[in-house]
Amino acid sequence: MPFNHNDCYHPLLLRQVPADAVTALDVGCGTGKFARRLAATGLTVDGVDPAGEVIEAARALGSPGPGKVTYHQRDITENGLPAQRYDFISCLASLHHMPFETVTTLREALRPGGVLAVLGLGKPRSALDWTKWALLGPPMNLVARGIVAAGEKLNGGLEPGVQAPIKDWDMSMSQIRRQSAELLPGRTVRPLLYWRYLLLYRHG
Ligand SMILES: C[S@@+](CC[C@H](N)C(=O)[O-])C[C@H]1O[C@@H](n2cnc3c(N)ncnc32)[C@H](O)[C@@H]1O
Repeated sequence: MPFNHNDCYHPLLLRQVPADAVTALDVGCGTGKFARRLAATGLTVDGVDPAGEVIEAARALGSPGPGKVTYHQRDITENGLPAQRYDFISCLASLHHMPFETVTTLREALRPGGVLAVLGLGKPRSALDWTKWALLGPPMNLVARGIVAAGEKLNGGLEPGVQAPIKDWDMSMSQIRRQSAELLPGRTVRPLLYWRYLLLYRHG
């Protein structure tokens, strides 16, 4: 499977799962790598993605236990989600495929005390941003590739599979900060390497 820059953030994301969590949802799960990592911690996980090819590949890769993953071929912007169902909702590199307001649907699907963790992408806008991207991007990418390659080796090698659909993203970090503050009061947004950010929201 081709290199996926997002994979090196899996450990950071797993650390955001509430200690007493039982149920989790991975939105835009692709071939299910992170959903399986959640299940490996004992959670009961739903992985949702509208792309039939990746859901098929995810199902073929199974569910590792001790938790369980169930994959659903579904577009969450069309069919919504059950209210107050999940203790943890993750959305890795997939929010930019949907209207940003979809975070409201995700917020409403959280149980009280539940956590929404979005690993997102923010577009550089200013000249300074573009300069940082041009200068820092290539070395950061190399470091990330190294981390992911080492992780794959430790976990028994690359997974076979298909590539999840990708899409360019267009919201800037300031738009993301502004809109998320309106829709997810109390959220935090932390910039990460290579134009990624981690948005965290705990449902009160
Ligand atoms: C770039 S891939 C990321 C896949 C995976 N989360 C990862 O980290 O490798 C984005 C995924 O979001 C999915 N997606 C796009 N629109 C969606 C929607 N409306 N509801 C759920 N998933 C969606 C795509 O099919 C794709 O698999």
